[in-house]
Amino acid sequence: MNVKELLYEGKAKKVFITEQKDRYLIRYKDDATAFNGEKKGTIDGKGAINNTMSAYFFQLLESRGIESHFVEQVSPTEMIVKRVEIIPLEVIVRNIAAGSLSKRLGVAEGTSLKLPVVEFSYKSDELGDPLINDDHILALGLASEEEITILKKKALQINEILSEYLEQSGITLVDFKLEFGKLDNGDILLSDEISPDTCRFWDSTTKERMDKDRFRRDLGNIEEGYKKALERVLGGER
Ligand code: TMP
Ligand code: ASP
Repeated sequence: MNVKELLYEGKAKKVFITEQKDRYLIRYKDDATAFNGEKKGTIDGKGAINNTMSAYFFQLLESRGIESHFVEQVSPTEMIVKRVEIIPLEVIVRNIAAGSLSKRLGVAEGTSLKLPVVEFSYKSDELGDPLINDDHILALGLASEEEITILKKKALQINEILSEYLEQSGITLVDFKLEFGKLDNGDILLSDEISPDTCRFWDSTTKERMDKDRFRRDLGNIEEGYKKALERVLGGER
């Protein structure tokens, strides 16, 4: 598919307009940032790993009835997706306390939560993606009540499918972040990516981190962590 022009460059991806009106091309980059862009680096091979893992998960979810923007992987670092308007919310699902939840609520990392928690953040680099609740979303007109219900339901369904799949590969899905987009007809599709940049993957036995926390926290062996996560995902059952 011929790429026409760069539409948008984010921290980890570039989005291109294509000759086809209803399709974008996404190119995943090796660039990594953390703490709202304060920390910058490169993770060799990350673009290809994140693209390949996202493509795999989108297809797995599609086979389980969860529609996404994914159309086709066209190179190691590129995929074609449906053109959607991204809803400016990060939908976070947590099974185990970690990261900002541990800090905010004083719960030790690794503590199991009694039920999966869905959180929303307002996507705004300027504000550092602040946590918001349903009333804020309605008051700011970011989504309707019906849409909020759909986002939560889909996020929890995705959590069940991915957690079960990953557990068979020896990975505990601690938490993850999703983004959704809207088609012109209003349908809500899972969008963005599902990768070690956007999930916490812990080895089920050793609790070794196989995700971006290796970069955020200077844990070393970053590329190896990403590679291991992809191998386990593609390998399916151990
Ligand atoms: P947090 O504990 O830092 O709030 O992160 C929760 C999950 O969301 C974790 O799996 C990492 C992911 N995440 C992103 O994908 N993008 C972000 O900008 C942040 C802060 C977290
Ligand atoms: N991607 C985010 C940033 O650059 C934060 C993160 O994933 O930790 O700020």
